[in-house]
Amino acid sequence: FNNEVVNNVLKSFEIDKNSMINIAMLFKNTMEEGLKGEKTCLKMIPSYVGKPTGKEKGTFMTMDMGGTNLRCTKFKIDNGNFETLVEKKEKLINKEKNYDLTKPEVTAKQLFGFIADCMASITEQGESMYLGNTFSFPCRQEDINEAYLINWTKEIATSGVVGQNINQLLAEALKEKNVDIEPVALINDTVGTLLVAMYSYQDADIGSIMGTGHNTCYLENNHPLNGGKMIVNLESGNYNIGLPVTKYDEIIDKNSQVPGSQLLEKMVSGYYMGSLVKEICLDLYNNKALFTNSDVDTKDFFDQNFSALTVENFILYPSKCEDQFNCTSEDAQIIKAISEAVLKRAVRIVASSYLGVLFHQENRGSEVKNKHVIAIDGTIYEKMPKAPKLMEEAFIDALGEDAANIDIKLVKDGSGLGAAIAAAVAVTQR
Ligand code: BG6
Ligand code: GLC
Repeated sequence: FNNEVVNNVLKSFEIDKNSMINIAMLFKNTMEEGLKGEKTCLKMIPSYVGKPTGKEKGTFMTMDMGGTNLRCTKFKIDNGNFETLVEKKEKLINKEKNYDLTKPEVTAKQLFGFIADCMASITEQGESMYLGNTFSFPCRQEDINEAYLINWTKEIATSGVVGQNINQLLAEALKEKNVDIEPVALINDTVGTLLVAMYSYQDADIGSIMGTGHNTCYLENNHPLNGGKMIVNLESGNYNIGLPVTKYDEIIDKNSQVPGSQLLEKMVSGYYMGSLVKEICLDLYNNKALFTNSDVDTKDFFDQNFSALTVENFILYPSKCEDQFNCTSEDAQIIKAISEAVLKRAVRIVASSYLGVLFHQENRGSEVKNKHVIAIDGTIYEKMPKAPKLMEEAFIDALGEDAANIDIKLVKDGSGLGAAIAAAVAVTQR
């Protein structure tokens, strides 16, 4: 652009190869400290699940509480064949039903009652089932069916849940509603994604979500708890060492429900991406580098809600956004460039964290010689223009020819099925 202020902001979102490798090395070291039991920003939560055999069998109720939706699904699984029997989906924020989990006025009893009702509505009279729960929040996991919420993320604030044994709360709610469903396993959504990927890809060993929130899990081959294979949930959204934090990231953090937490997540995930772009626009406007044409009603612009979808629209259809936001085509082009820069930075930060995991698994400096499949789910990776291409480029940039050893796959809706697989594993362990 013919504008130094804009160019400088865009430049501050670039991450070169060396920065990626540096972030990856720090990430690897932090993982390894966490594995040894030291307290770090990576929680390294054991899932109590390793590699499934592929022979898991049975009909299970599952629930998947992610960033935007609650899904209850009944699955039949049998030796690698899957069938969705029935499914019900509800929004976690439903203004019409006066239901908003980001408000502390909603209680644990209401939340779990709501989930139990959802399950009851797809359960037949007299039917009894085991349940696998994909609960996509940081939990202190003591066993496959014993997980206590450490804190909410993704701005959820329902009261009375932090510190509680989630599947116990669920079991109580189900009992109260006379639904004969017994929770037997709880996993994170990243773990669900990886479990499902493991059914399809021999070398799958990293699972990740790039959606409303962001997080990664991986298969640890040498876990201190069992001396063998165990999937570990990193809760990498909370990573906070050596990241290229800008003043805009600081504002997003300051305005969030829990400042100081989930720093990486706030830089890369869908919940925050729109606000980040909007903050940058505001700063450019204050510095007379955006909306310089006095006809533009900036109040109207800044009053609008900016979501990840807005970012996507500015990238794909800048001229349509001109009308919607009543700005000039030059403004729309600048916002498009900002949106692309924010997205590209997000992908490269996430790629650096994956590299950290790979460097740990390989243990040969910054080389990756074995085959790996990284399974990713979530709206950012799935829907954002060119996200998979940007990811591939980041790996080629960082690893050169070793990048050919890494396959990145979109694995959709793994969480539901993953929960069924985890429930089957749990039942056979009994
Ligand atoms: C879904 C998974 O496909 O993706 C959820 O089933 C996960 O468990 C979700 O949380 C992530 O996507 P988003 O963008 O809705 O957060
Ligand atoms: C948040 C949650 C994490 C989840 C991720 C993706 O980071 O803390 O558990 O995996 O969002 O949904």
